[in-house]
Amino acid sequence: GKKWTEVKDLTDELKDKVVLIRGRAQAIRAVGKKMAFVVVRERGFTVQCVLTVAPDLVSPQMVKFTTSLSRESIVDIEGVVSVPGQPITGASQQVEIQVRKLYCVNKAIPLLPINIEDAARSDVEIEKALQAGEQLVRVNQDTRLNFRVLDMRTPTNQGIFRIQCQVENIFRQFLLSEGFVGIHTPKLIAGSSEGGSAVFRLDYKGTPACLAQSPQLHKQMTICGDFGRVFEIGPVFRAEDSFTHRHLCEFTGLDVEMEIKEHYAEVMDVVDHLFVTMFDSLNETCSKELEAINRQYPFERLKYLRKTLRLTFEEGVQMLKEAGVEIDPLGDLNTESERKLGQLVLEKYGTEFYILHCYPLAVRPFYTMPCYDNPKYSNSFDVFIRGEEIISGAQRVQVPEYLTERAQACGIDVKTISTYIDSFRYGAPPHGGFGVGLERVVMLFCALNNIRKTSLFPRDPQRIAP
Ligand code: 4AD
Repeated sequence: GKKWTEVKDLTDELKDKVVLIRGRAQAIRAVGKKMAFVVVRERGFTVQCVLTVAPDLVSPQMVKFTTSLSRESIVDIEGVVSVPGQPITGASQQVEIQVRKLYCVNKAIPLLPINIEDAARSDVEIEKALQAGEQLVRVNQDTRLNFRVLDMRTPTNQGIFRIQCQVENIFRQFLLSEGFVGIHTPKLIAGSSEGGSAVFRLDYKGTPACLAQSPQLHKQMTICGDFGRVFEIGPVFRAEDSFTHRHLCEFTGLDVEMEIKEHYAEVMDVVDHLFVTMFDSLNETCSKELEAINRQYPFERLKYLRKTLRLTFEEGVQMLKEAGVEIDPLGDLNTESERKLGQLVLEKYGTEFYILHCYPLAVRPFYTMPCYDNPKYSNSFDVFIRGEEIISGAQRVQVPEYLTERAQACGIDVKTISTYIDSFRYGAPPHGGFGVGLERVVMLFCALNNIRKTSLFPRDPQRIAP
């Protein structure tokens, strides 16, 4: 086969070499009849290709053919790499290709619903362009999502989903190295697993059933099954009614469950090491992707400590109180107070990533273990990035009688979870775990303003296509 070069690898080291690339014609411009420029994009990276009419090399017909191509068509280009005297502004790569051959592999339709260059601009660039009288269409979120296949092509989106892949990868690698076993639990289940009404109900061959709201019950059952430490990466379904910037009806859950020897802090230790490792690795291995996102949606790198800050819920309430925010000490934090506390924590401790633990029992799910010395509170925690929740976790109740009592107290029909409760009758170790929302981690690590930006094909209360 022929030797292909990726656009991202086109650097001045290849000066004067003949290269062969495949990409999309992002922008095509004619200069008279003897010259044309084509910006070719591949996976978010762009290079400027120049056609200059010359005997036995580029014919006037070839220039004409090139300028008649529709944007986003797939082209193969063979040419010589050159390094221009001044910086190139319209492309990511700082070299040009002097075209010798150009083939169209597949044509795009002439009128596209999204112009990728427009979709890739930052707010500042849009303002500048509009002021300069340029014709440009602001691409709104719904248009992006309706034509996601096009929207996905922007450097930002190429970056976002590569970062997402890396988050998942590090989650898996880290846990494997710590002796966790990867598992898969069923997504078709008999009842609700988190309590509450946010479940998709369905008919399972004549029996009422649900799409799993989380792997919660089954991951705990694998601890009863002696797996010791488990993790799962899988879809989670929530029939959310609220149309917000951070709720999806389907998201990817990163779940962990593990035996606890002495204290639920062991679970928080895993969170701590896992995420510090993850952030370090993302900063190190995804710098190109982060730069691409930063160009369109400017943000500051996440501030986090080598050892993750842990505050108790009471300490959090106290900090809010001192800042003039009154909070029910046994209630939950609302979105606004979570944000506020995030700011206060940043000011006081210099971190945008921290754990808040020992939550009031009343606001946690039925399977949560109360504090031994004060049953108004629980051995549970939430984890925040930039003032928004990305994780919730806890120690669980492993005593079947007490679990039944707690489920009843929370209004759950214990018949629907009887096999789960029975699992604890055969000997169950103390255990705990946590659940992470993948899309939220990526959204907040990159300081993006909407979770739909970090889901390839988001499902929300108003969207099930594409
Ligand atoms: O807080 P949640 O509901 O906790 C559980 O599912 C527990 N079973 C976890 C455990 O092991 N104790 O969900 C866990 C995480 C949240 O912190 C959030 O990041 C994400 O899942 N999440 C959502 N992400 C997107 N859209 C939604 N509708 C989400 N609901 C929760």
